Amino acid sequence: MMPYVLAIDQGTTSTRAILFDARGAVVASAAQELTQYFPQPGWVEHDAEEIWAATASVVAGTLARANCSPQQIASIGVTNQRETVVIWERATGRPVGRAIVWQDRRTTEFCRRHAADQPWIRERTGLVLDPYFSATKLQWRLSQDPALLPLAERGEIVAGTIDSYLIARLTGSVSHVTDYTNASRTMLLDLRRLEWDPELAAFFGVPLAMLPKCLPSAADFGVTHGLSFLPDGITISGVAGDQQAALFGQGAFTAGEAKCTYGTGAFFLVHTGSRAIVSQNQLISTVAAMTDSTPQYALEGSVFVAGSAVQWLRDGLRIISEASATEELAAQSNPQEPVIFVPGFVGLGAPYWVPEARGAIFGLTRGTQPADLARAALEGVAFQVADLIDAASHDLNATPLDLRVDGGMANNRWFLQAQSDLLGLPVRPALCAESTALGAAFLAGLRVGVWKNLDELRAQLGQSQQFSPAMSPSDRQRRLRTWRRAVRAVMVFAK
Ligand code: G3P
Repeated sequence: MMPYVLAIDQGTTSTRAILFDARGAVVASAAQELTQYFPQPGWVEHDAEEIWAATASVVAGTLARANCSPQQIASIGVTNQRETVVIWERATGRPVGRAIVWQDRRTTEFCRRHAADQPWIRERTGLVLDPYFSATKLQWRLSQDPALLPLAERGEIVAGTIDSYLIARLTGSVSHVTDYTNASRTMLLDLRRLEWDPELAAFFGVPLAMLPKCLPSAADFGVTHGLSFLPDGITISGVAGDQQAALFGQGAFTAGEAKCTYGTGAFFLVHTGSRAIVSQNQLISTVAAMTDSTPQYALEGSVFVAGSAVQWLRDGLRIISEASATEELAAQSNPQEPVIFVPGFVGLGAPYWVPEARGAIFGLTRGTQPADLARAALEGVAFQVADLIDAASHDLNATPLDLRVDGGMANNRWFLQAQSDLLGLPVRPALCAESTALGAAFLAGLRVGVWKNLDELRAQLGQSQQFSPAMSPSDRQRRLRTWRRAVRAVMVFAK
């Protein structure tokens, strides 16, 4: 009987289940949208009970479509939106209040007040003291309800990222575990020692008793227990935060290998091997998927607006009727109309970190056409990724050999050529559109022997088509200079 690996991909906007066969091919999948709650400006919450119900439903839907017996599932892999934090009752798995989502900015004031602590926290965790990460969210939640702290100290209520919560539910509350990639996004993990840090826990007022046990990404996280949609005893043996899962699913296992996933935003990660490098260029350091106890790290930079710039062309400006139309439209743009679009709608992320920034368009003339705006929007994303790779190259004293890409915009051939031109590097779209889920499946399958080793995974991925730079280095430099002048203007305007 052909073994299958089931991946659960719990993302910010949807929950998905994807069944892979032993060749890494998708057998069946199902997805469900997730309700977003915005109780106040800048706040974003999810209902963890809805997340669990959606997980049950998409797993059941996938198995029904695949017409597969659950006995054929060799293992389960879990990948998830990172940083989002849940508190739940240890004994029942029942959530205590809503999950606070990574995009939530309610702790901005806390971060501002503690700006002086930035250097030691950065050194210890590799992160920037920003509301993005889990610790200030937990601090906020515990400080709001004095009844929670004693329960947390006794371990009666526990906390974790979405992976940890889903595993608790899948195992009938037996396991309270997480993997190092997710733990490294909480701002409570010592990045080098790979242990919860008592000093950070005390600083954020988070009792250590409420935190999960950390494991490598390929490990024994528990077995299914007491579920209506899966039999007891299926092992969960792969777990990674979604961006680290995509890095793994793209076959980027060793130092210097890099990927960018283009979703609503864009996440760039470059593997740095067993070295944790604290960036001198405003990137963050994070744990990459570990298949055993050997530490693995990556540098990461996020662009807050990527696909959402294209959505704005569609829903805001209404110059296109569907996102894919930008491919043809951008190709019709006039090269003599060099419009620059800085899509800083929600502030600028790495490497600029200007939360107050907003978007701007430069170089408009009477001749500017929708095609020029479409091109400028796509290039605005490509320029930001070029700045991230430039920052990473300075930190590493080396430039990645190529960039592997996945996510929605990786289907846009015009964009991929522009990305390659503006990077001066080959760009390689993934053959499997599901790099994130595939990464979780690879980790899970590796642990239980569906795949033997990393070489076997590499062979499965195959070679995709490559986009090679066609722009001269001097043109590229000139265009990057113009872009950076535009970013500086946006920063000045934000002050
Ligand atoms: O760090 C946040 C990231 O993990 C969210 O990813 O794909 O759910 O938007 P996504």
